[in-house]
Amino acid sequence: MAAGMSHDRQVDLAVDLSQRTGRTDAIYRALHAALTGGRIPAGERLPSTRDLARDLGVSRASVTEAYERLVGEGFLETRAGSGTYATAAASDIPPVRHRPGALRPRAGWRWSPYPTSGDAAVPAHDFRVGIPDASLFPFDTWRRLLVAESRAAGRAAGSYSGPAGLPRFREAVARYVAGSRGVRTGPDDVIATTGSQQALDLVARVLLEPGDVVAMEDPGYPEARELFALHGARVVPVPVDAEGLVVDEIPAQARLVYTTPSHQFPLGMPLSLARRRALLAHAARHGAAVIEDDYDSEFRRARRPLESLQALDRDGRVVYVGTFSKSLLPSLRVGYLVAPPSLRDALLAARQLTDGHGAVHVQAALARFIDDGLLARHVRKASARYTERYEILLDALTDLPVEPVPTAAGLHVAAHLPADALLDSRELVARARRRSVVLDSLGTYAVGPYRDGVVLGFGGAVTSTIRPGIRVLERLLTACPPV
Ligand SMILES: Cc1ncc(COP(=O)(O)O)c(C=O)c1O
Repeated sequence: MAAGMSHDRQVDLAVDLSQRTGRTDAIYRALHAALTGGRIPAGERLPSTRDLARDLGVSRASVTEAYERLVGEGFLETRAGSGTYATAAASDIPPVRHRPGALRPRAGWRWSPYPTSGDAAVPAHDFRVGIPDASLFPFDTWRRLLVAESRAAGRAAGSYSGPAGLPRFREAVARYVAGSRGVRTGPDDVIATTGSQQALDLVARVLLEPGDVVAMEDPGYPEARELFALHGARVVPVPVDAEGLVVDEIPAQARLVYTTPSHQFPLGMPLSLARRRALLAHAARHGAAVIEDDYDSEFRRARRPLESLQALDRDGRVVYVGTFSKSLLPSLRVGYLVAPPSLRDALLAARQLTDGHGAVHVQAALARFIDDGLLARHVRKASARYTERYEILLDALTDLPVEPVPTAAGLHVAAHLPADALLDSRELVARARRRSVVLDSLGTYAVGPYRDGVVLGFGGAVTSTIRPGIRVLERLLTACPPV
């Protein structure tokens, strides 16, 4: 309902009184918007509570309470014997902008943030890619460590910390990656980051000149591809086959090669040993750097996984990037990079100038978590659950006309569709989504030609929902019912 403030100057007050409850709030919001939007200027007298209540058809108490709240906030004042007036307080608040404004970002910013998994409701059949199961996370232990470490920080918490991250954290990470992934490192080579994404950003900042060529696996990780492009690089897609990145197709002029050797993202195969050697030889021959993004290899189902690519590097060409986004939680935003000494100072300067340093209490708690064996225990426990889900998923997929890509690690599996599939993957994904089955099309990850298929995450999938979810896909792929 709209009421005119007919008593002094006419102001339309759009008060939504469609609900029987919350009328005070509705009146308050309408007056607040009129005051901060400049429609009731400073010094204006407002109608009496009695008159406004009558105009709006509400109780006087509702109007009185709304006025009192605005008086309390300083937007209105009562003058004895005279009435209620708008103060100048509202004019200090900038009006809500409805126009886009004259400013434009520079041309490189063509990537617009997409809805992330945390924004959406959890689907009934959750095959979203790259999501660990938060219910497995030991929140009580984590809370205890966080509280203890925050207390222990004492006065130091009032100071800035170094850009490399807490020494204790770097020591714990160095031991952890040396033990679990064979990474050759000491604490001085480790830099704590806000997830892998920041590690990629720092490396791009210190290595890339505008126009430099970056070679990327294709299909590959879109966030890496877009980030390098944003730094002015010319990103060249390099195909992937059963042995991973096809090293022979890397352009000779590539300054940087981005790869996911443990678990190719998103197809899932590891980079073979022969290809690893070929990649390092290529990098040495052409003076290139290599980013090894080891995002989810903690969860492995093979007995003896290949060690990290970095472990084979004798030349200081590999920057190893790790994250706790899959092994713990993506919302923690903690990762790290292990860089050759020749890049260290530049990376530290980049970190300090872009965001200072990460959350020190979180690093301290995580250091304890690692040192007390809790990370290893969590990974063991979570691995068992993920392996169970993977096996159920793989078994269910045998009912579908798809060809899963063999994979020995991680939290997702890719499956190719046959050339004569009733639906292409984008159509399949769209139709499945309407039935609360959420998965990805391989097309989301590819820029060049690719063999069509889908990617199914199983980290967040409730075990009992896996088979029914796959049955939905089966019906879509075999019967193609009307939408
Ligand atoms: C290839 C790849 N790298 C890294 C990450 C993790 O990124 P972050 O550590 O920034 O959360 C993901 C997550 O999905 C990924 O798929």
